[in-house]
Amino acid sequence: MRVVIAPSDQIASKAADIVCQQLQRKPDSVLGLATGSTPVALYRELISRYQQQQVSFARAASFNLDEYIGLSSEHPQSYRYFMQQQLFDHIDIMPEQTHVPDGMSEPLSSCQAYEQAIGAAGGIDLQILGIGHNGHIGFNEPGSSLSSHTRIKTLTPTTLEANRRFFRDDEFQPCLAITMGIATILQSRQVLLLASGEAKAEAVQRTVEGPLSAFTPASSLQMHEHAIVLIDEAAASQLQLRDYYLWCEQQRSQLGM
Ligand code: PGA
Repeated sequence: MRVVIAPSDQIASKAADIVCQQLQRKPDSVLGLATGSTPVALYRELISRYQQQQVSFARAASFNLDEYIGLSSEHPQSYRYFMQQQLFDHIDIMPEQTHVPDGMSEPLSSCQAYEQAIGAAGGIDLQILGIGHNGHIGFNEPGSSLSSHTRIKTLTPTTLEANRRFFRDDEFQPCLAITMGIATILQSRQVLLLASGEAKAEAVQRTVEGPLSAFTPASSLQMHEHAIVLIDEAAASQLQLRDYYLWCEQQRSQLGM
């Protein structure tokens, strides 16, 4: 696992560099995308680079991690709607090449179809991840099987609470979601986990330095050959080997890596 600690205001541009390098290497890359507040600055940066003709998504495809069951794509809190607003409507990706689990169709078959579609597209080249305060990735809550594939998950009370801010008081907040599984995520060729702020520090420490455990689903990334954890100083504040990770990055940059 490569741990990159950077100033908060550089996280989005460093993450965008990784996405753009991937698209330069392979213009028809399959990107795994995430929702939540964390990737918003990255998406803004990608839109800006697209507008400056520094990157094109014309041949790319995307698969999002998760979607609420019971929210249609037009619902403002659905993750399909979020992706349209935050990214897809502003870049040249082909609409039919963007995939978000369908929260309105029969969930069991829809999960299977989603997993098959990822396989048919050749697998995910680069998966972007946020992390929950409880260490979840996608909606793989604590206790999720490390071998899981796309399926239905019940959200924990802490996740429901963390996401309540997006819903109006009188608005229905689903407690079920379709999410890629941990094995689905681990099958991606490269993974980029982003985290900012003190509130994520404990989850980041357990992810990077804790035992590999279904209790901290993100710790499964310890099993991945090409996982980058890109975090700001606050999110890195509980890492025991923080200075070592900084030193590793210095060495890499001296070697031009
Ligand atoms: P956040 O959510 O980016 O809104 O903090 C991350 C997550 O729950 O995976």
